[in-house]
Amino acid sequence: MRRHPRVLAGVLFLGAFPAAARAQGGPDPATVELFLAKCASCHTVGKGDRVGPDLRAAIDRRGRPWVERFVGAPSAMLDSDPQARDLRKKFNDVRMPDLGLTPDQITRLVDLIDHCSTAACDLAGKFTPVMQTTAEQAKRGRDLFTGRLALQNGAAPCISCHTTAGSGVPIAGGTFSKDLTHVYARLGDQGLDAALKAPAFRVMGRVFDARPLTADEALALRAFLYGANKAGVDAQEALSLPLLGGAGALLALGILNGIWSRRLRGVRAALVPRPRQESAS
Ligand code: HEC
Ligand code: HEC
Repeated sequence: MRRHPRVLAGVLFLGAFPAAARAQGGPDPATVELFLAKCASCHTVGKGDRVGPDLRAAIDRRGRPWVERFVGAPSAMLDSDPQARDLRKKFNDVRMPDLGLTPDQITRLVDLIDHCSTAACDLAGKFTPVMQTTAEQAKRGRDLFTGRLALQNGAAPCISCHTTAGSGVPIAGGTFSKDLTHVYARLGDQGLDAALKAPAFRVMGRVFDARPLTADEALALRAFLYGANKAGVDAQEALSLPLLGGAGALLALGILNGIWSRRLRGVRAALVPRPRQESAS
């Protein structure tokens, strides 16, 4: 007893004042978890803009009631509220999704944003930037995309619903859904990571909820889609046409294809006229 009076006093103090202990030890861990699961794919607090704005000082900027209303139901404000509309324009028309939060969760999240706007918080979670992936991983991503490699938990390969540049498979079956050539640019590195690990999409959610991608697979696919985005942009720039988006990339590929086959025909025409003439006469 006599040896640890300070430790004992500390334990008593923490037991008697858990809230005070938490304030000293940083933000509420459960709320940090919630932020990592629902917000961190698009936002930082104090580390700069991502898919959405840096949330540091959002409360100062807009007032707490506005922020709580927006976090609760962005869709209700993105068209009608002038400030939200301006934000949406600034962030490339990416619409923050309605995340189905309870009023208590909203309060806790806004408390967290408030707290981390003035104190240092680690809200980044574990994340491997695509720049740290290897060509091997991108190749594995392509094989997972096309179904050459099976997905570990048994989901259908991406190619059964999607197309993309660089898959090596021409427009096969993918008309059901979206072309993913520029999804990397649309969602950003963290946004794409979140989309692959926990797809909140109507159709994809249904397929992948029961058969999620592993972290490894999600990383390989992200590496592949990063390359697909670059390949798509290069194809457009080569044509120096103002082509944008997946439809543009497909059009660009179509045009390149046309040019290429005409070139081939030109080569053949130069090589084969004589035999043809002979056989004609
Ligand atoms: C898929 C990406 C995405 C997710 C996930 C997301 N946001 Fe957003 N958020 C945005 C974008 C983009 C904007 C800018 C407005 C717009 O275009 O929708 C925004 C705007 C905001 C704003 C207004 C900021 C300002 O400067 O006024 C707040 C506050 C906010 N988000 C909080 C959250 C919180 C809290 C979560 C998690 C519960 C969250 N967001 C999840 C993309 C996202
Ligand atoms: C059963 C069909 C199906 C399969 C299989 C599928 N997806 Fe999807 N995916 C969709 C649909 C449909 C959407 C559009 C949103 C929705 O779900 O309604 C979508 C949306 C996406 C998006 C978001 C696109 C955007 O622009 O925001 C990404 C990223 C994506 N899929 C990646 C993949 C990857 C990677 C795979 C393979 C691991 C895959 N999908 C497999 C049907 C599918």
